[in-house]
Amino acid sequence: PANKKLLILPGDGIGPEVMREVRRIIDWMDRRRSVTFEVKEGVVGGAALDATGSPCPDETVAAAAEADAVLFGSVGGPKWDSLPFDQRPELGILRLRKDLGLFANLRPAVVLDPLADASALRPELVRGLDIMIVRETTGGIYFGEPRGIHVNEQGRRVGIDTEIYSEDEIARVARVAFDIARKRSRKLTSVEKANVMQSGRLWRAVVGEVGAAEYPDVELQHMYADNCAMQLASRPKQFDVILGGNLFGDVLSDLAAALTGSLGMLPSATLGAVQPSGKRHALYEPIHGSAPDIAGKGVANPCAQILSFAMLLRLSFGMDEDAKLIETAVEKVLAGGLRTADIMSTGRARVGTTVMGEAVLRELEKLSA
Ligand code: NAD
Ligand code: IPM
Ligand code: MN
Repeated sequence: PANKKLLILPGDGIGPEVMREVRRIIDWMDRRRSVTFEVKEGVVGGAALDATGSPCPDETVAAAAEADAVLFGSVGGPKWDSLPFDQRPELGILRLRKDLGLFANLRPAVVLDPLADASALRPELVRGLDIMIVRETTGGIYFGEPRGIHVNEQGRRVGIDTEIYSEDEIARVARVAFDIARKRSRKLTSVEKANVMQSGRLWRAVVGEVGAAEYPDVELQHMYADNCAMQLASRPKQFDVILGGNLFGDVLSDLAAALTGSLGMLPSATLGAVQPSGKRHALYEPIHGSAPDIAGKGVANPCAQILSFAMLLRLSFGMDEDAKLIETAVEKVLAGGLRTADIMSTGRARVGTTVMGEAVLRELEKLSA
């Protein structure tokens, strides 16, 4: 099979720790399933700052653009927290999203059966939960101008961010969400605050227009983002696909993560537009960050990173079978009772990152024997 070009960016904190477990799976696939990946590793975030002085060096952006898919760890940490704003490690991921045009971030929040008791909610409210959040990631308040901390006429500092969405930006991410909804339960909930924000008014109008013109078969519901947070925390199973802008999508996906047991379980995919050549830039990363509070202790849950790799196989390489194999392996390990600290509950066996990763690998071996 043709080489599959993969760029790995472990980043900071627990990023490199959980990425190591994915490397093991990649090596195993090389050996056992004859899939040849052409793996390159690059620097991003604080690690890149230390090595090159930039949180996202040009070489990293170029390597990401050249790769067929990027597997990203996480960036940030206390070591770099006092740096000027334009040197923060977080710019690493923001620049990659922007420069590669990765506008549609898919964040599944799935409650695996063995983890129903690890949820922040009662098991009966979340058992079987399967939500897909589609978050816009190249626009909105994350990038709008003007922004910054300015001094006003009274000599007082004012912090400014600007929420801007054009109708084209809204329409293209809406289409991604509608397409996904069409393959699931044909129900889409679009969130904004059209009651107070002009960008929200436009968001609601454009999503409605795209739906009416192109997706009459998908049932569209508009919901204010604050209400959506409340509904997610009380009756999450009413949702199937949720579409939101950059900021609301970020916040609601962390909330959805708590419903599934832990941030440490959740993968994501961020996709660009399909180019005329057929190529589509894509980056895969866990929803969680660099978890400075547990970094270096060997206790981080590697599942989100491993499941991000499974998403990569499915969406960028069309390797559905291998993706499913990995997902099944993770679920079997959890069903067998192994738990990292973040998903621990009584009667289970607490293990660290490496034991968890090795257990997934052993399951993979069994499943493919
Ligand atoms: P975080 O996601 O790093 O951690 C939040 C909590 O979840 C912590 O208690 C952490 O220990 C726990 N947690 C996260 N991942 C875990 C895992 N795999 N296993 C077990 N527990 C896990 O969020 P934060 O603390 O708000 O941010 C820390 C740093 O990460 C900040 O610098 C932030 O900007 C950055 N961050 C980066 C990304 C990214 O790279 N995509 C995402 C979110 C936050
Ligand atoms: C995420 C993170 C990032 C975001 C930060 C690290 C820039 O929270 O990927 O969810 O806000 O998009
Ligand atoms: Mn986030």
